[in-house]
Amino acid sequence: MAGRLAGKVALVTGAGRNIGRAEAKLLAEQGARVVVNDLGGGPYGTEAGDASLADAVAREICDAGGEAIGQCSSVATREGAEAAVQKAIDAWGRIDILVNNAGIVRPARIDRMTDEDWQLCVDVSLTASFHTCRAAAAHMIAQRSGVIVNTGSPSGFGHWGMGNYSAAKEGVLGLTRSIARDLGEFGIRCNMIRPVSHLTGTHTPEIDETIAESARLGIPLLWNKPMAAPRMTALPEHVAALVVWLCTDAAGHISGRDFYIQGDEVALIPEPEAIRTSINPGGWTLDAFDEDANRTYLFGDIPNRFVRHG
Ligand SMILES: NC(=O)c1ccc[n+]([C@@H]2O[C@H](COP(=O)([O-])OP(=O)(O)OC[C@H]3O[C@@H](n4cnc5c(N)ncnc54)[C@H](O)[C@@H]3O)[C@@H](O)[C@H]2O)c1
Repeated sequence: MAGRLAGKVALVTGAGRNIGRAEAKLLAEQGARVVVNDLGGGPYGTEAGDASLADAVAREICDAGGEAIGQCSSVATREGAEAAVQKAIDAWGRIDILVNNAGIVRPARIDRMTDEDWQLCVDVSLTASFHTCRAAAAHMIAQRSGVIVNTGSPSGFGHWGMGNYSAAKEGVLGLTRSIARDLGEFGIRCNMIRPVSHLTGTHTPEIDETIAESARLGIPLLWNKPMAAPRMTALPEHVAALVVWLCTDAAGHISGRDFYIQGDEVALIPEPEAIRTSINPGGWTLDAFDEDANRTYLFGDIPNRFVRHG
């Protein structure tokens, strides 16, 4: 198939439905041969697997004239992630594009979060990306090329009741930035996107409850300020367009970056920076911190947006 990605081989994790499915379909439309990975679970990480889900999407792609194969291991395990990457190597002898999309949510306020809530979420939403990136990197280094797109979330900015998911997704950001540095010398790029698409699986009723709770408490939901209401709902296809574009040569200059997409808006999230610094000659002491806070140099006028006074 001709297209912007003709001749490329791609793996998309969690591609059995919604955002991942749209990514796999658009990659194939653009000429890539695609391994459609999905264990056929659900948004909570404990649902029984439906191995036919990945095959169904692969069949859809083939029926439309593309090339795809289904693969149904869990990428949350090392073996499962390596099997997904190996599927691309066995079928087509290379891997050019890795889209880490699989993710789950298990919201709970921190005092009520179970070990299982934490572990399942971190395993799928963070560790899976480590496993697949490591397995794919070996092949990409040998090829001297490759593109990785990881999936974060605006919840990583901080989100009531989402400590496990926020930690996992910001872990993905750190992983992304470091991989961009690790693999840049081999011509390999790595970026992260933070999608919002309300019509998909991970936007569960429990997520709506976390949003309602933030509103009840009068605290910022995700950003420093209340989030602007989106002008439209992003469809999985809109998210897929950003991801696939990042995989093309048109984005060859972009690596280690963090993008947000919701509705018709896409944003580049800034690199971390120190917004204030203060120097205490000879080093810092408790008294020096008091003095700084009293003079409002660095600490004094930092507002607490989460504790209500009075
Ligand atoms: N939908 C949103 O608004 C939104 C917002 C922020 C971030 N995200 C992220 O975008 C990604 C896709 O979200 P979605 O709403 O389309 O999800 P979804 O739940 O609709 O689909 C995810 C797919 O991943 C599969 N999956 C889950 N665990 C897996 C595993 N261990 N191995 C292989 N496959 C697995 C599921 O079976 C499912 O088909 C996720 O990483 C999610 O965290 C989504």
